[in-house]
Amino acid sequence: MSNSSIDKASVVNRYLPAQLVAKENADAFAPSNIALCKYWGKRDVELNLPVNSSLSVSLAHLGSHTNISHSDTGLDRVRLNNKDLSLDSNFSRKVIAFVDLFRRGQKIALTIDTRNNIPTAAGLASSASGFAALVLALDEFFSLKLEKSVLSAFARMGSGSASRSIYTGFVRWDMGTQADGMDSVACQLDSKWPDLCIGLIKVSSAQKPVDSRSGMTRTIETSKLYPSWPEQAGSDLITLEQAIAEKNFSQMGACAEKNAMSMHATMISAWPPLVYWLPESLAVMHKVWQLREAGVAVFFTMDAGPNLKLLFEACSHSVLQAEFASMEVVRPFSD
Ligand code: PMV
Repeated sequence: MSNSSIDKASVVNRYLPAQLVAKENADAFAPSNIALCKYWGKRDVELNLPVNSSLSVSLAHLGSHTNISHSDTGLDRVRLNNKDLSLDSNFSRKVIAFVDLFRRGQKIALTIDTRNNIPTAAGLASSASGFAALVLALDEFFSLKLEKSVLSAFARMGSGSASRSIYTGFVRWDMGTQADGMDSVACQLDSKWPDLCIGLIKVSSAQKPVDSRSGMTRTIETSKLYPSWPEQAGSDLITLEQAIAEKNFSQMGACAEKNAMSMHATMISAWPPLVYWLPESLAVMHKVWQLREAGVAVFFTMDAGPNLKLLFEACSHSVLQAEFASMEVVRPFSD
């Protein structure tokens, strides 16, 4: 991990006009995404440049809606899920710092209104859709008309996984090599998989105790297993792309599950240990393994939180819905 000599503001600045022209109002939506090959570890903490490339599938209608308009009080207003937040809250500070990259000191007081239809900070990646929707809304509000790859790079500066939420479907985020990160951007894969289902198993909606940024730093600094991670992720990415191209479900599911468990192994071996699992998370894993033994083609993946995402095809939906009654199912290519 290195501390970049390049700061975000100077990178963003290169793409902005000298004087911003603001519209009345702009509205954008970005989907949440679930990584099948995870991003875990930064080589540059300022720009959120990753140690490895990653691959995700987006969650169709589940994500963030962001509206930007002028604030009539002369001060910024930050709203989340229909409530005004204190400007001192973590969320407001992150949003305002990000918007400031675009305003560059120009006095344009804004209302930034975000509505998530997924639980915030419960391992269902609302920061990914949140920053992607914010970048899309800023692009529209200031009529920037930036290319999608640039929007992906800017979203990445807010939250790494947000680079992937600029697109729908299967998305690969290439780690890139440039110091300014402008080649560390996501792109959409051609493949579609109409039968693919993602089952969201909510074990807890509580705020996670250690956010991904601190979790990654702790893992890189203390886990003796971490050095094996980039190679694992690199080979999983190749396997996953092949499985997706061939619609080989068992290869895709097995690789995604193994990738998630390998990431969690690096977290568990950090010090102090980073165990995002709750007893209920482990119970769901055992149930998935039992169902698989019994012939149901189902796999899981998990991020930096206790919730699980099941991967299965439409033919297994009813049997799995009966096993996991409260599971919410998303079909990324049919919803
Ligand atoms: O984008 P961040 O900083 O919230 O990190 C996301 C990390 C994981 O969700 C664990 C993996 C991923 O690729 O989404």
